[in-house]
This record gives sequence, structure tokens and C-alpha cells, in this order.
Amino acid sequence: RYFTPKAQSLAGVRLMLTAGPTREALDPVRFISNHSSGKMGFALAAAAAELGAEVTLVSGPVSLATPAGVRRLDVESAAQMHGVVMDHIDTQQIFIACAAVADYAPKTVASHKIKKTSADTMVIELTKNPDIVANVAALPNKPFTVGFAAETRDVEKYARDKLSRKKLDMIVANNVAKAGQGFNADDNALSVFWPEGQTDLPLAGKTELARHLLTLIAEKYHDTH
Ligand code: CTP
Ligand code: CA
Repeated sequence: RYFTPKAQSLAGVRLMLTAGPTREALDPVRFISNHSSGKMGFALAAAAAELGAEVTLVSGPVSLATPAGVRRLDVESAAQMHGVVMDHIDTQQIFIACAAVADYAPKTVASHKIKKTSADTMVIELTKNPDIVANVAALPNKPFTVGFAAETRDVEKYARDKLSRKKLDMIVANNVAKAGQGFNADDNALSVFWPEGQTDLPLAGKTELARHLLTLIAEKYHDTH
């Protein structure tokens, strides 16, 4: 096992991540979701465990194996993810919100399968889901909080806006419009912003990228704690 400098070690640090998509039920057989594979979040969980952290991974529905040494809590909806995070956040020193949380959920969930009617259009009413990372960052005893920003344009502007609006310590931006990176891809290139700086992590496999990102998070965490 290779030597980790103290500034980059997470030995004994409790770290929680969210990963994957959420599913917002319409009826017993249908849901609204997105293309998140959970790969980045699972790679980050593995990298955090490698650095010695006690890792809790709150995961939406994904088809990935749990990384070695990681405690995994499975959820489906944004509301469930929010509940599980809030139940366990008190003891956490670092929180990384990697999940692609659905912004809205159907206002009502039909208890039986919705039937097709003679009408050519149908309208589904949605209500806003809780913003998990913003709620964590608003806690009086907030952990070092890292968010992600998946953008298709004006990446820095939108990422910095989310950083300040959600009161995050760090935000990790990726341009999901670029082919072969981001959602559902094996490679990913990231730009990382914090209140007084920024850095780019060049295109690499998600395992390597996750190690670079976790090392950066560990350094910034130790700078402030
Ligand atoms: N996030 C969250 N809970 C939500 C929505 C988003 O915790 N209900 C987190 C994501 O995990 C991510 C960050 O917020 O870390 C930014 O998500 P993103 O979808 O990019 O931002 P939004 O604020 O939802 O804005 P928009 O989708 O309009 O870009
Ligand atoms: Ca969103």
C-alpha cells in the first residue's frame, strides 16, 4: 500500500456521498428518471475508502457493485434520498452530492396503473423535490460540502452560481454536452471551483479522476478543519 501524506489522508474521517439517479413514481409501473449511471459517485466512494475515510454511499437505482469497505444505503426517490441523508448527516465531516437528483416529482402517485384514454395529450403535474445538498449546507453544524454541476453551456457561470447560492465549499463541474464524458461515460473531464480558486482535472478514466478529486477535497478539507 502506497504512502499517503497527512494532508491528503482521510483516515478516520466520516464521508457521505450520494450517487446515481433517482426515480420518481407516476404509478406502480412507471417513473421519471435520468441517464445517470452512478459510475462517478461509486468511483469517488472507492477513492475515499482508499484514502482511509469511513464511507457511507447513499445510492439511487444503479447496476454497480458496492466498492470494498463502503457502507451502502439504497434509495429510489429524491424524497427517500433526502430522508436517508438527513438521518445520518449529523456524524459526517464531508458530504459529496454526486447524485443526479430529479428536480421534480409527480404531484400524485396513482395507486393503480394509469390507463390510456381517448385524448391525444396528457398533462402530468409535478412538484419540486427538496434540494438535498443545499439543505445539508444550510445545517448549523454543516460538513465540508461538495456539489456537482452538470451543465451543457456557460459551465463556470452556472457552477459558481450554484456554489454561492447553495453555500457549498466546492463545486465540481462537467460539460455533459461534450461527447464521451459525463453522464453514462467511462471518461470524464472536470473543472473544480471553490470560493477563492479553481482547477481543471484533465480527461481521465473515472477511477483516476476520482482519486485526483478526492485528494483535492482532502486537502481543502484539512485547510479549513
Ligand atoms: N442536488 C441535490 N438535490 C436536488 C437537486 C440537486 O442534492 N434536489 C445536488 C446535485 O447532487 C448536485 C447539485 O445539487 O450536487 C447540483 O445539481 P444540478 O442539477 O446541477 O443543479 P440544480 O440546482 O438542480 O439546477 P439545474 O438542474 O436547474 O441546473
Ligand atoms: Ca437539477
